[in-house]
Amino acid sequence: MDRNSYWKIMQKYIGSDVTSLVSLPVLICEPMTNLQKMAEIMEYSHLLDRADECEDPYMQMVYASSWAVSVFYAFRRAWKPFNPILGETYEMVNHGGITFIAEQVCHHPPIGAGHAENEHFVYEVTSKIKTKFLGNSVDIYPMGRTCVTLKRKGVVLDLVPPPTKANNLIFGRTWIDNAGEMIMTNVTTGDKVVLYFQPCGWFGANRYEVDGYVYNASEEPKILITGKWNESLSCQPCDKEGEPIPGSELKEVSIINSFFL
Ligand SMILES: *[C@@H]1O[C@H](CO)[C@@H](O)[C@H](O)[C@H]1NC(C)=O
Ligand SMILES: *[C@@H]1O[C@H](CO)[C@@H](O)[C@H](O)[C@H]1NC(C)=O
Ligand SMILES: *[C@@H]1O[C@H](CO)[C@@H](O)[C@H](O)[C@H]1NC(C)=O
Repeated sequence: MDRNSYWKIMQKYIGSDVTSLVSLPVLICEPMTNLQKMAEIMEYSHLLDRADECEDPYMQMVYASSWAVSVFYAFRRAWKPFNPILGETYEMVNHGGITFIAEQVCHHPPIGAGHAENEHFVYEVTSKIKTKFLGNSVDIYPMGRTCVTLKRKGVVLDLVPPPTKANNLIFGRTWIDNAGEMIMTNVTTGDKVVLYFQPCGWFGANRYEVDGYVYNASEEPKILITGKWNESLSCQPCDKEGEPIPGSELKEVSIINSFFL
């Protein structure tokens, strides 16, 4: 089917949730359901190992959230049309000490479940999405749950990723952006990291920018985090206004794309 006739058919769905539409190109639903890709997020799992080994509770949150940010780079890179069938499983055994297993548990709407584990962490995900079709683009809201347990101290972190937008679905070259808040919460203490993913502006301005803070349970900022999710993240201790503490340094915590250079 050519893009013009596709456009005529799809126009009536503007504003609706199209997750379950059979006629949707698989590529729209795909970012969250490709089981093999769910395993790719383990590419940066050394950041979770570091979080587990880290003594400072706030730096622990910095490492764990940098891992969560790196996932978006892994996803973006692996964008290709492919939708797993119901009951399909994917298993990766002892890949650098990590065992990963995932299963497509529902086809319409697509829901996948995954579990990964090594000596430092347990990662559990149920990926499920809600969509809003906007014509030439679709907003994809994560509705599933992601939970990371750091084993040494039994820290349980709950992750809510930012929404995703797939642009130029029908006209032009399709590209993906993540914009909005990502929140990672220590479910025991209520400490959290809130990172804001800037939307991509005209001519690519602000693309990949991400900024935010680690907050303690009374919502006082402790550490500021800034960077680009295609490059690296850095952090610096801050005062309760969120300003860097004089004399402290901005330190790089993760180089996100170093594996692909
Ligand atoms: C998170 O909670 C655990 C207890 O489960 C605690 O030991 C740890 O220090 C907390 N981390 C932060 C960043 O507050
Ligand atoms: C959060 O940090 C502020 C400022 O350092 C402190 O006054 C407050 O007691 C802390 N809250 C918790 C729950 O640790
Ligand atoms: C990351 O994105 C920015 C803005 O689009 C770009 O200038 C930069 O070259 C990218 N970095 C890498 C390593 O691809």
